[in-house]
Amino acid sequence: MLNTRIKNDRLLKALRHQPNDRPPVWLMRQAGRYLPEYRRIREQAGDFMSLCKNPHLCCEVAMQPIDRFNLDAAILFSDILTIPDAMGLELSFAENQGPQFSKRIESVSDINKLPIIDPEASLAYVTEAVRTTKSALNDTIPLIGFSGSPWTLATYMVEGGSSRTFPRTKALIYTQPQAAENLLSILAINIIEYMKAQINAGADVAMIFDTWGGVLTPPGFLRFSLKPMQKIVSALKTEYPDIPVVLFTKGGGAWLEDMAASGADGLGLDWTCDLGNAFNRVGRQVALQGNLDPGALYGAEEIIREQVLAVLTACNNQPGHIFNLGHGIEPGVDPEKVKFVVDTVHQFRYK
Ligand code: CP3
Repeated sequence: MLNTRIKNDRLLKALRHQPNDRPPVWLMRQAGRYLPEYRRIREQAGDFMSLCKNPHLCCEVAMQPIDRFNLDAAILFSDILTIPDAMGLELSFAENQGPQFSKRIESVSDINKLPIIDPEASLAYVTEAVRTTKSALNDTIPLIGFSGSPWTLATYMVEGGSSRTFPRTKALIYTQPQAAENLLSILAINIIEYMKAQINAGADVAMIFDTWGGVLTPPGFLRFSLKPMQKIVSALKTEYPDIPVVLFTKGGGAWLEDMAASGADGLGLDWTCDLGNAFNRVGRQVALQGNLDPGALYGAEEIIREQVLAVLTACNNQPGHIFNLGHGIEPGVDPEKVKFVVDTVHQFRYK
């Protein structure tokens, strides 16, 4: 399903290591609370999940940063926690609080009872949001579909929401590692079907957010995070060889070689990783996406320019870099600073 009709294909070119005039730019959490127009739509929807379940509003908020900043890619507006919700854990977002599940995984028998889902049925609101957004984009730029990684979804399902130290999930992997692997396998199966459904609905790129892979030990990361992500990469690349897959492990800088060997087309880097060094390590195998510190957006323009240029020049004019932040835009950021970052990338040219 190679999409050659897309007019601005800088992102797809970078993912294939083809030359570009400049790196493509998009930003994690580019649609979100830092935008007043997002807050208005969110208000109109009532709560965050009602927004996620309304494909027209999802499309509208996905387009907001595109209209404002002229980015090189759009990302589906949804959340990584839609899968556990569809698996019966009942997700809600209370005002100004993180995600909460009314049911959580407490025992091996809870894991054994987890369903294999049919995303075309229980997550039809997501595939519909992909179709609606794809049609609004009208092939101007690619649309990124996404899912959480098995490990990251497992942490939310076992903790029942967000956590700083993951006590229950750590207890699970150290007391019942086989049960943890079963949970991760069920999640991998559901994620594969979910990503296939998004690709069939028109997503041009598949990105896996492994937000919490970095809290594992090196062998723990290979076993509980990378191995199930690798299954997803293999399944997607077998069925859709032309759809690029990007893995982003926050705190994963030490494991780039292992991640690159997964067969993914691109790796996301957080801001703790030196981009030039990462490029020397794995830049021939995979494209690299990142990695401006989201905190730099609190700086003055001259500081931001300096930081953005450091990212832009780190790969020595080689193709295969996608400009992004090292993690999502924070809600308190001034949209004008975001515009300044994007404009600075737009003005840059490879030598
Ligand atoms: O623009 C985009 O990036 C697309 C939309 C998107 C959202 N969440 C919307 C959202 C994407 C790609 C995500 C991914 C996501 N969701 C991740 C992985 C990426 C990362 O940030 O590490 C994670 C861990 C989640 C889970 C999640 N969703 C949490 C912990 C929270 C609450 C904390 C917070 O930032 O508000 C959310 C809510 C959420 N997801 C919001 C948005 C715009 C804010 C909801 C609101 O409007 O109140």
